[in-house]
Amino acid sequence: MNHLISMRDLNEKQIMAYMHLAEKIENGKVSINLQGKLMAALFYEPSTRTRMSFETAMKRLSGEVISMVGTAGTSVQKGETLADTAKIMARYTDVIVIRHPNEGAARWVSEVVDVPVINAGDGSNQHPTQSLLDLYSIMKTQGTLRDLNITLVGDLKYGRTVHSLVQAMSPFNPTFTFVSPPSLAMPDDILRELSDKNISFANTEDLNSSASSADIMYVTRIQRERFPDPEEYDKVKNLFIVNNSVLENAKDNLKVLHPLPRVNEIAVEVDSTPYAYYFEQAENGVIIRQAILAKHLGVAE
Ligand code: CP
Repeated sequence: MNHLISMRDLNEKQIMAYMHLAEKIENGKVSINLQGKLMAALFYEPSTRTRMSFETAMKRLSGEVISMVGTAGTSVQKGETLADTAKIMARYTDVIVIRHPNEGAARWVSEVVDVPVINAGDGSNQHPTQSLLDLYSIMKTQGTLRDLNITLVGDLKYGRTVHSLVQAMSPFNPTFTFVSPPSLAMPDDILRELSDKNISFANTEDLNSSASSADIMYVTRIQRERFPDPEEYDKVKNLFIVNNSVLENAKDNLKVLHPLPRVNEIAVEVDSTPYAYYFEQAENGVIIRQAILAKHLGVAE
């Protein structure tokens, strides 16, 4: 079955196939029709962009959607297991898009159903469709994915988008700078993976210097909901704020990305600079998710 669970499962050729299909869709070079196909969006956690861009993508390609928006009003409240809910949805629909707070939930569902499963975020683990739209945004703004300096800022410990992105960029010879408080540093297993692949990276708390050498600055929210101890959240929530002064010596080609939602980690003043690309990035989510749905429903290569 043709699932999309983790960036670890994709090689360079497969990643580029998503990029090329998205490009063709955006430029009107291919026409995709998903009429007669039905997508189940199973969202056990809150979402704005991921769920709605998947729904938009499906509807713009003439497909249809049923959505579970949180568990209120569903039989999850009566104790129904994830596996049982997923097995039923697989009997109703052609593809399952799932977001769940537990790491490994999407993989688990993919093992018990016989329709394609797309991981829309599993706990702090992976968010592969976000990474594909991030790569698409990087390619559009830099003209390449190769040999770029990428600075990642914020919650690198619990942030599934940064975990996925680091793996997604690995085939393209990136240089990473990780800016976070020590308590939210990139997990050791991911750093070991980078070392094994001979990919350059540095950990720092110096946001200003990192900003001046970056091609891409990828900022993330400090996620209050992932902290076991609220006091730990309070200690770190305001440590790294990207504002115009941080960007004073930025390279002309720098683009600031953010998976959104933001709280205060990018000052609103940055929105009107040429560096801000986060709203366009979210818009790219519809195109890339059209490409993902077309590929995983077997309608495009
Ligand atoms: N980027 C992202 O996953 O946003 P949502 O949580 O709004 O879906």
